[in-house]
Amino acid sequence: MATVMRIVNSSLGPRMGQRCFALSSNHAAVAKAVNVATSRPLPEKVKIVEVGPRDGLQNEKTIVPAEVKIHLIDMLSEAGLPVIEATSFVSPKWVPQMADQVEVMKGIQRKPGVNYPVLTPNLKGYQAAVKAGAKEVAIFGAASELFSKKNINCSVEESLQRFEEVMKAAKQDGVPVRGYVSCVLGCPYEGKVSPAKVAQVAKRLYAMGCYEISLGDTIGVGTPGGMTEMLEAVKQEVPVDALAVHCHDTYGQALANILVALQNGISVVDSSVAGLGGCPYAQGASGNVATEDVVYMLHGLGIHTGVDLPKLMDAGSFICRSLNRRTSSKVAQASCKL
Ligand code: HMG
Ligand code: MG
Repeated sequence: MATVMRIVNSSLGPRMGQRCFALSSNHAAVAKAVNVATSRPLPEKVKIVEVGPRDGLQNEKTIVPAEVKIHLIDMLSEAGLPVIEATSFVSPKWVPQMADQVEVMKGIQRKPGVNYPVLTPNLKGYQAAVKAGAKEVAIFGAASELFSKKNINCSVEESLQRFEEVMKAAKQDGVPVRGYVSCVLGCPYEGKVSPAKVAQVAKRLYAMGCYEISLGDTIGVGTPGGMTEMLEAVKQEVPVDALAVHCHDTYGQALANILVALQNGISVVDSSVAGLGGCPYAQGASGNVATEDVVYMLHGLGIHTGVDLPKLMDAGSFICRSLNRRTSSKVAQASCKL
């Protein structure tokens, strides 16, 4: 299927950087693939992985006090989120916003049954995370060489070798490891990313022992056709029940892409309260899809999440007030309350 991604000059202004992506597709082939996918039943339950405290806040220029982060995480667990990515054990020189990771880990009230994974790019990060009380970690690779270099300062192959070290230690400690593949539907530096490359990196992460692989549309450029094509490639290498999707919403395609993922049998979805965030090494990328909007869609489809939407919206209001920011959640913005 020939999905073609072109990088074109944009007049969208500085928020979008100097470039934007225009996607054009072989419509007949894409429509056929999407149609095949729609014949599959939707899952009855979806696990939402809340990434707001990490992915949402890592991009904030002004340092958010640790007590605000801690209160946000506690509100999110109170709202019924089963997994809350709490922080990351990365270099404070690279991501100053996450420098308070130990304080955050020590300050949160751990709710029984809730997982609080943290990002660990290497063994040093892993050891610090475990020392701070992390019971689950996530390693984060990419399907794009240039993004890997910009984000974690090494090639994709070097990153996988570093992750093997983390995995070895985690296996010894009995710590579950989640794996991310970034840029699965496009890269801010390379443009189109081949589904085969995504499948190859996902396969390596799964083979080394990641229990779940989260497929990240880091810059939110994907459309349902590209998502279908990419998932078809990845599902040949990794069982679908070990896959998650992680959609940023830069081009407003995230909910449509998530629906396609559900139709493909995926039942784990990453999202960020109030739609906060972006990646500091992916200029112009906006936040993840808002958790409020995902929960609203899933509940509307009759899919169980265990999340209490009003409490989740309280958490969204809290963090938006703290950041002096308008929410990006359409559900939270809606004035015609149901
Ligand atoms: P480096 O500079 O190549 O590391 O960075 P190094 O090994 O050469 O060490 C340099 C210095 O960093 C040394 O300190 C190390 O001790 C220290 P110095 O001697 O200069 O004082 N260092 C560390 N400090 C704290 N924690 C650590 C650590 N490791 C080394 N773990 C490194 C390599 C990976 C550390 C760096 O590139 C980094 O921290 N990158 C993180 C970038 C990041 O967090 N990006 C955002 C998350 S990814 C994302 O958002 C995408 C995702 O959401 C999915 C999607 O949307 O697609 C997950
Ligand atoms: Mg992300």
